[in-house]
Amino acid sequence: MPIIELEDVSKLYGFGDAATVALDEVSLHIEEGEFVAVMGPSGCGKSTLMNIIGLLDRPSYGTYMMNNRSVAKLRPPRAAKYRRDTIGFIFQNFNLLPRLTALENVALPLVYKGMTLGRRTRQASDMLARVGLQHREYYYPRQLSGGQTQCVAIARALVNNPKLIIADEPTGNLDSAGSRLVMELLSEIHKTGNTILFVTHNPELTRYATRVVYMHDGAIVRDEQTVIGDVAPTARRVMYTVPATTVEDDLAGVSALMNHLPDAEPAATMSLKEKTRKTGKARRSKRSRT
Ligand SMILES: Nc1ncnc2c1ncn2[C@@H]1O[C@H](COP(=O)(O)OP(=O)(O)OP(=O)(O)O)[C@@H](O)[C@H]1O
Ligand SMILES: [Mg+2]
Repeated sequence: MPIIELEDVSKLYGFGDAATVALDEVSLHIEEGEFVAVMGPSGCGKSTLMNIIGLLDRPSYGTYMMNNRSVAKLRPPRAAKYRRDTIGFIFQNFNLLPRLTALENVALPLVYKGMTLGRRTRQASDMLARVGLQHREYYYPRQLSGGQTQCVAIARALVNNPKLIIADEPTGNLDSAGSRLVMELLSEIHKTGNTILFVTHNPELTRYATRVVYMHDGAIVRDEQTVIGDVAPTARRVMYTVPATTVEDDLAGVSALMNHLPDAEPAATMSLKEKTRKTGKARRSKRSRT
């Protein structure tokens, strides 16, 4: 049974002529235990998809079931509780509080659970040990390397024991050694039974995934089962065979080249975006990468 079931989920930002179609009738099922990489050019809707799956945002249209229940309809306080108990988030910029130690950062989500300070500290300490940073408990984020900082953020995401981990470009600010550290850790976590979704612009990191979902203009244009250890076939093809066509492509990196994938065409049926475009009600705006 899938833990995540999205059916025809669309997300529009803004209204009328200024509306942006960030997700365009996306359907996606994710089974428990999958390790899914999400790739695609800047502005194609990856973060929007992560935020909807992670209950940080709501679909404009369509249905979202998690563990067979319609979570998108939960009232905000219940959604927040459900999110805390079920989902761990990891972000590109780590989002740690700079004035708290590694240990205090990891213990923070437990405050909501009403645990005593002693229990919180013990649990956070165990979690830091699990990510290999027991010797850094009293360090502040600025005293850690990028890779270590992200490992602390991963420990914090795991401290509530969530089944689903959502990581939006977890290695986006890391060098290759830091990226490796973080991806190896996510791999370990995956082996212990967690379901993991991560966004990446780096085709090399598809080696860690069991499945790769490719997005373009708010839609899923390809969905590939992959072998752990191998770069996913489409990512490999984009990496080695599709030439850069513009300076912008060069700057944006390999993921921008996915714009030129031969069969990255919209579905045959008329999409929400086309419908809105036809009626002149929506306009896509493309953000430049930071
Ligand atoms: N809060 C918002 N208000 C208005 N438009 C938004 C908002 N968030 C995202 N968008 C727009 O929705 C589209 C999808 O954005 P999203 O951030 O999901 O893309 P992305 O694939 O994560 O891009 P990147 O690789 O740069 O992180 C973009 O056109 C973006 O400008
Ligand atoms: Mg994003």
